[in-house]
Amino acid sequence: MDNRIKDVVILGGGTAGWMAAAYLGKALQGSVRITVLTAPSIPRIGVGEATIPNLQKTFFDYLGVAEDEWMRECNAAFKMAVKFINWRTPGEGAATSRPLDGRSDHFYHQFGLLPEHDHIPLSHYWYHKLSRGQAVQPYDYACFSEPPIMDAKLAPRWLDGRRATRYAWHFDAHRVADFLRRFATTRQGVLLVEDELEGVNLGPGGAIASLVTKSGRVLEGDLFIDCSGFRGALINKVMGEPFIDMNDHLLCDSAVATAVPHDDERHGVEPYTSAIAMNAGWTWKIPMLTRFGTGYVYSSKFSREDEAALDLCRLWGLDPERTPLNKIRFRVGRNRRAWVKNCVSIGLASCFLEPLESTGIYFIYAAIYQLAKHFPDRHFDPVLIDRFNHEIETMFDDTRDFIQAHFYLSPRADTPFWRANKSLALTDGIKEKMALYRAGMPVNAPVTDETSYYGNFEAEFRSFWTNGNYYAIFAGLGLLPERPMPALTYKTASIGEAEAVFARVAQQQRHLLSTLPSNYQLLRQIHGQ
Ligand code: TRP
Repeated sequence: MDNRIKDVVILGGGTAGWMAAAYLGKALQGSVRITVLTAPSIPRIGVGEATIPNLQKTFFDYLGVAEDEWMRECNAAFKMAVKFINWRTPGEGAATSRPLDGRSDHFYHQFGLLPEHDHIPLSHYWYHKLSRGQAVQPYDYACFSEPPIMDAKLAPRWLDGRRATRYAWHFDAHRVADFLRRFATTRQGVLLVEDELEGVNLGPGGAIASLVTKSGRVLEGDLFIDCSGFRGALINKVMGEPFIDMNDHLLCDSAVATAVPHDDERHGVEPYTSAIAMNAGWTWKIPMLTRFGTGYVYSSKFSREDEAALDLCRLWGLDPERTPLNKIRFRVGRNRRAWVKNCVSIGLASCFLEPLESTGIYFIYAAIYQLAKHFPDRHFDPVLIDRFNHEIETMFDDTRDFIQAHFYLSPRADTPFWRANKSLALTDGIKEKMALYRAGMPVNAPVTDETSYYGNFEAEFRSFWTNGNYYAIFAGLGLLPERPMPALTYKTASIGEAEAVFARVAQQQRHLLSTLPSNYQLLRQIHGQ
């Protein structure tokens, strides 16, 4: 008897819905009928999205879509890092004037991989030098080749297509959703129904039997994927799965966002996302050709909406009367279980974290990957469901802890928001990581070309936040170990040899600075402008 699932119905045609449709179309090799129900009248949220490097290898390469092809269709730009601005001091007037004046503090959390020597990450040699009172550059400039390139607004590739470093992308999520919709419907045979959800029929045992649309169509299915966004129309409203609110870890629950026109020819295009600390949260800046997306993510406990709107406008010199603002209220946390019976939630219907580390789209394709890997038959073996839910839980909770650490460790205490962050409870997991760091030890597995450089997704998923990620943020915020790695202090030969690694980084910086094109020039070439 054939127990395979025959019909998958996806509710929601936003980024999550179309990523799921395209990916499953490929993974299930056309053996399953996939239908996407999308309501044209329901607006999608999308004000500039930042991503991480494995998007190409684990998603687009899997679909067989070349980087430059989707980049052109989606007006995508390059991203080499998140640049944290004013996270140590309020900077020059912080939210009341332009922070980007050279006097503001900053550090990069870049995608470039941290070199190692003698199996010990370079970060530990760097701190050893610092603790000896030797003159060293800040952590990011000393250990990575990218920071000076980013300061100079250069590209991560040469004009002939060769890559100089590891990078990701900025784009408008609407354009990616539209691109994937064309891809899924024309190349994967995915069916599209444009209509609104009116009701849901349940079958035996409380599983979903079918969706009923406004115009009376009945969409029967074996498996239903809820990509309905913050509404959680199936997973929360129909299956009744509780959403675990995590505002006790992260205070931000709102955002005001807009797009700002930009004179690229005059100022260049920054090849990174900025995260600028503000009085009651932080502001993203996501440069694309001709404009950048920006939004102030804040806590409604510490700022009113109109104040936040004014602060954002003042930051960029915009007229608050004439700037169209997108006002967003979000829920922070995740469903207790992402998958219940025959209903799997993906995207905002499953979980949401403020976009400080650009994990939103990653959470979508990581969940789809896990679904494809644990794809059930009509037995819906609970072991598969439990494994899937466990993976989502770890992915989310580790990231939540990491993001909370940004606010917790920031030395800023100049507003009630920054002070309130210092008294929130931390989980044991992140406390242990901070303790390891203070003791001079690596916090987590290192990352190598093999485990992460667009490589094995399984390994990438398991050590997603690597030693280098924690070190960049902890050291960037000014938290230093209490002593150098004890084991390293004995290795005087290795310590001496590491000087050559630092010298190589500096030499690579000079080489890239003198040979890479500007980010603006490369983007114009790709987009044929
Ligand atoms: N493993 C991820 C990567 O390097 C970690 C990551 C997520 C990250 N968001 C980031 C690194 C933002 C730097 C900046 O791709």
